[in-house]
Amino acid sequence: MCGIVAYIGPRQAQDVIIKGLKRLEYRGYDSTGIALMNGGLNVYKKKGKVSELEKSLNGFDLNSHIGMGHTRWATHGEPNDENAHPHYSATKKLAIIHNGIIENYSSLKEDLERKGHTFQSETDTEVFIHFIEDIYENEKCSLDEAVRLALTKVIGAYAIVVMSLDNSELLIAARKGSPLVVGVGKGEYFMASDATPIIEYTNEVIYLNDYEMAIINKGELTIKNTENLPLTPYIQTVDMELEAIEKGGFDHYMLKEIFEQPRSIKDCMRGRLDSASGRLILGGLREYVNTLVNADRILIVACGTSWHAGLVAEYFFEEYCRIPVEVEYASEFRYRNPVIREGDVIIAISQSGETADTLAAIEMAKSKGAIIFGVCNVVGSSIPRATHAGAYTHAGPEIGVASTKAFTAQLIVLNMIALIVAQQKGTIPQQKFLELLIEMENIPEKVEIVLKHNDKIRDIAAKFIDTNNFLYLGRGYNFPVALEGALKLKEISYIHAEGYPAAEMKHGPIALIDEAMPVVFIATKDSSYEKIVSNIQEVKARKGKVISIITEGDTLIPTMSDHVIEVPKTIESLMPLVSVIPLQLLSYHIAVMRDCNVDQPRNLAKSVTVE
Ligand code: G6P
Repeated sequence: MCGIVAYIGPRQAQDVIIKGLKRLEYRGYDSTGIALMNGGLNVYKKKGKVSELEKSLNGFDLNSHIGMGHTRWATHGEPNDENAHPHYSATKKLAIIHNGIIENYSSLKEDLERKGHTFQSETDTEVFIHFIEDIYENEKCSLDEAVRLALTKVIGAYAIVVMSLDNSELLIAARKGSPLVVGVGKGEYFMASDATPIIEYTNEVIYLNDYEMAIINKGELTIKNTENLPLTPYIQTVDMELEAIEKGGFDHYMLKEIFEQPRSIKDCMRGRLDSASGRLILGGLREYVNTLVNADRILIVACGTSWHAGLVAEYFFEEYCRIPVEVEYASEFRYRNPVIREGDVIIAISQSGETADTLAAIEMAKSKGAIIFGVCNVVGSSIPRATHAGAYTHAGPEIGVASTKAFTAQLIVLNMIALIVAQQKGTIPQQKFLELLIEMENIPEKVEIVLKHNDKIRDIAAKFIDTNNFLYLGRGYNFPVALEGALKLKEISYIHAEGYPAAEMKHGPIALIDEAMPVVFIATKDSSYEKIVSNIQEVKARKGKVISIITEGDTLIPTMSDHVIEVPKTIESLMPLVSVIPLQLLSYHIAVMRDCNVDQPRNLAKSVTVE
């Protein structure tokens, strides 16, 4: 939610910042702005995407070697030019960009208004910079000290960067609850919400922790915390190729990421799984594997697509390990005063590693003494740092807002965790364990086969672009896939879609079925095949349009479906890895044909750092 980027060094700041904002647009894209020191501290901002801002900058002399920019996902105040960041202080000598929410902004605002401050926007951020300036003027301290003092008084979450008219060699940044990375180049520094705007210039980065500040003044970087204790910068090398964050010839990131899955699934297993030797290792779990083996219960917390991966994992842990599992929406779990007992283990799943509700659920469970495992994609993000142990999904950067390759990588990691625990617990026969390892290694090839049906799926999609509703039905392992298929469609095409367990259909959704209602059945050959065949007939009897995802060679379901998409046969527990692929492609093509912005769907953001 909101992307921030800043630069100081010999390059033209606006080039670095505009490019960086485009890379961060997945975080929010309702308005954009930039501040530069080009003959004054000048702010340019615009409702709309970065390209709108870029157009509006034509004709200005933007020569500046320091600057900062912001792409917004609105919280306080509608998306318009005034509410876009950066925001000026009262004297316009300071400017700020901010990702997060200042919860006590209204009381701060009232105090400031009493002192005569007036505000141009409805944002909490503008209040924040007025507040900083108020302290700066009253305390007669350095600007970084004024920022520090302000930070000790605000409640909420922030990643901020502050610039000052009085010092064109100063950038002050801080974080609490919202991510911030500092890039360390040769004679230049970068700051951004994640490493993607930075890696084409340097791969040396510092991930700021909560309550830390980074001050770059006259070429020197200082890191300290908000209690004023100096800290030694911990510089890490990021292992990310530029290619991984570009579209690579695809029309959209989402399509590229769907097609990357054979590789991302392999990457996720690389060095961890080897069927020939029967080896399955997750380095990050080693120390805590007994905790999981001895767990009385596993609680999985996540949001969105990651929550769907959690539902599949529930089946893995119950089938292989015989451990009871509960899958929780992090946002509900954190506010419910849940019962967490000794012997409970939490698994938090998150692509971004920054989702505010998931992070808060982790903190709450930790305070109750729980051991927490993380399954995250973004290396160095907040969730992996807040957990006791975990495993990265190694799917590479996922930029399309609709999650695709992160989901399949999450399934792989969760399956590996469950298998390791089951083997150690003795709840899985060695033969079955080995079969699963072999089949996991076959999955990339099977995904590749499904991707070959892309043209056919596009043709099917073309028939449904004017539909208002969709139903997705599946049973067993394919039930969470039905939920995920429906989520994909509604996220990017704005068609209302619901996922349901196929048998539950008769307790409600069946009332909706008529000739205008397409129903996607995930009806692969598994233990509930006969049951789902009956469910298809129930829909056909009511004239619903049936699109079935079937196992290759199935001759029965095609006779009762309007359209079928074949997927290769695999072990039942691994089927979600294969059966979700056509659903990703179906939603992608429907959205493209409806002229929707697939990578940046309205109102959504990739990394939800507000609750
Ligand atoms: C947002 C994204 C989804 C994602 C969800 C959870 O809603 O648009 O794609 O599934 O957040 O995000 P996480 O990063 O925690 O997996």
